[in-house]
Amino acid sequence: MSADAAPATNGAFRQEMRKVPPGEFIRPNRKTNGMGVQAEDTRICVVMVGLPARGKSLIATKVVRYLHWLSIGARTFNVGQYRRSATPNPSADFFDTTNTEGERLRKAAAEAAVADMVKWFRGGHGMVAILDATNSTKGRRKWIQERCHEHGIQTLYVESKCDDEDLIMQNILEVKTTSPDYVGQDPEVAAQDFRNRIRNYEKVYQTIDEDEFDLTYVKLIDVGKQVIINQIRDYLQSRIVYYLMNLHIKPRSIWLSRHGESMYNLDGKIGGDADISPRGEMYARKLPELVKQSAGEGRKLTVWTSTLKRTIQTARFLEFEKLEWKALDELDSGVCDGLTYAEIEERFPEDFAQRDDDKYNYRYLGGESYRDVVIRLEPIIMELERSENILIVTHQAILRCIYAYFMNVPQERSPWMEVPLHTLIKLTPKAYSTHEERLSADIPAVSTFREKGTSARIGDKERRESKTSVAS
Ligand code: SIN
Repeated sequence: MSADAAPATNGAFRQEMRKVPPGEFIRPNRKTNGMGVQAEDTRICVVMVGLPARGKSLIATKVVRYLHWLSIGARTFNVGQYRRSATPNPSADFFDTTNTEGERLRKAAAEAAVADMVKWFRGGHGMVAILDATNSTKGRRKWIQERCHEHGIQTLYVESKCDDEDLIMQNILEVKTTSPDYVGQDPEVAAQDFRNRIRNYEKVYQTIDEDEFDLTYVKLIDVGKQVIINQIRDYLQSRIVYYLMNLHIKPRSIWLSRHGESMYNLDGKIGGDADISPRGEMYARKLPELVKQSAGEGRKLTVWTSTLKRTIQTARFLEFEKLEWKALDELDSGVCDGLTYAEIEERFPEDFAQRDDDKYNYRYLGGESYRDVVIRLEPIIMELERSENILIVTHQAILRCIYAYFMNVPQERSPWMEVPLHTLIKLTPKAYSTHEERLSADIPAVSTFREKGTSARIGDKERRESKTSVAS
């Protein structure tokens, strides 16, 4: 089965669709964010709404990471952090609305966060700010609405409503006992105080309802189960909502592997559709055992490969359902397909230097850039967010982009990351970061890694030796 996931071709992608002369970079500027989104003057404040322990900070962190991956400037303004500068370790009573001093300090923290957010927008630092706080009353939301309106900032309210006791408990234990509010405290005492804090919020909490029909909002019920959307007004808002609709926060892992060493790898050639080498074949045969070791006996995964032979051959001994994605094919190296780096340097010296200078934005003549790859991978990321238990067998550049999304790797670094052959990577998203484990198959392979600024001939000797040992 082939799931062809070509990038959307609506007007918003106009900038990406135009013909770009060889070697020309598409750099983000004020009018486009580098993806072609017509972003001039777009300023959106995503206002989180919900009781404590409903995954608001996790959602905010994910949205910021997703937007950064798409080259959209975004930042979280967490009201709790502002409050901590005056009240670092409050007890639950601080959050009782009859505590007037507590109320005064909490309002001051919200005001400071909003003031900084307005300054941040004015400084042209980005298009999306996330106000991460409970914002649990209609009065507070109305105040935010007015403040944003004064400064020409659109609002998108995101309410996380969750009655799933397991999820709440998990959040209380995993996140809040590690919160700076409870540093040095006994985790049991901290968890009890945190429950009391939630009770205080519950006394005054008002869900977004029909009185607020004019607000742009999305209500996430038990993250992933049900979504209610109201008055979405523009493209970027709808894009954020689409991302939120695909989220779930159940515990899960994602496994990533490059294909086994290919015949092209042995020759130092890029692109193509070569078979795997004898050592690549050894990796393919060992992969089921590595997966069992990493995922556990009996765990059923779904395997995604590209449509190229080397990934399909590598995955063929895995006894799981398999899906081929065109979107997982290797970065298209255009006229350089089938050449070695040394040949590229010789035939296209300027292009070779330009790519070294800005690898993320450099687009191969007749081919793609890393930025292009990120755009075509977006449906993959959405599908990954919706799914559980996925193993992806793909190519170096593609794996770098997917890895960069989960590990929040900046653009200037992601194309230069070393991702070795014959290694299984397990990523486990946690509340505020992603945990990584690497399992090496201990099967030698040539290195396809070339560091920025190094010679195009790097690795030639090692490849010659590998070919001799494979042949002998
Ligand atoms: C906090 O002070 O920790 C959060 C304030 C709020 O969101 O209500």
